[in-house]
Amino acid sequence: LSDGPLKGVRAVVTSGPTHEAIDPVRYIANHSSGKQGHAIAAALARLGAEVTLVSGPVHIPDPAGVRVVRVDSAVEMLNGVRAALPADVVVCAAAVADWTVANRATEKRKKKVGAPPPVIELAPNPDILMTVSKAEGGLRPRLVVGFAAETEALLDNARDKLARKGCDWIVANDVSEGSGTFGGDANLVHVIDADGIDSWPRMGKDAVAARLAERIANVLRGL
Ligand code: C5P
Repeated sequence: LSDGPLKGVRAVVTSGPTHEAIDPVRYIANHSSGKQGHAIAAALARLGAEVTLVSGPVHIPDPAGVRVVRVDSAVEMLNGVRAALPADVVVCAAAVADWTVANRATEKRKKKVGAPPPVIELAPNPDILMTVSKAEGGLRPRLVVGFAAETEALLDNARDKLARKGCDWIVANDVSEGSGTFGGDANLVHVIDADGIDSWPRMGKDAVAARLAERIANVLRGL
């Protein structure tokens, strides 16, 4: 196992959704299952990498051979990733909430007869992918991979994301209605880097993970 092509390589993978608390019993979240991120962590470990998986709340088992750090919110996820650095490669597959709740209540919000519904105020979350991509002081990993879940203008948005966030690759996937990506077992992806686009056929999330891990191993070994 540890004699694979990624022996000695430190990898960090984010996976799953984040939960942003509204009050002690309610939260804002999204449909991410964590399947793709968890599969990538497992695939990197199978190639011999030392993997830390920083996962939001999911309902799937921990992958084998991986150190799992469980978090709820985006801020906790960023802290978990920071604590796992330095790393050679970071893959941000989590569906991080763009906003957190600025006026989070410490007690459960009560319905009051005749009173207007509460207003939830949002504040931006830190961008974990961008933070890692622009890390200084020797903490910038050799390879940073982001995902772009898009429902339209997939490739344009992915190229824009690559430039704006400062990562090395964007794995763009179609999550439009009917694509079956969210919660499903298959994925149709395009890997975009400075050299162009690598479009892969539709395949299972495990196969996407294995191919991505191999691609990562090839660059880290300078092939
Ligand atoms: O901007 P957008 O959310 O579409 O970017 C998606 C990519 O950025 C994914 O790799 C996701 O894991 C990462 N991301 C992040 N932190 C955020 C938002 C997105 O790491 N707050």
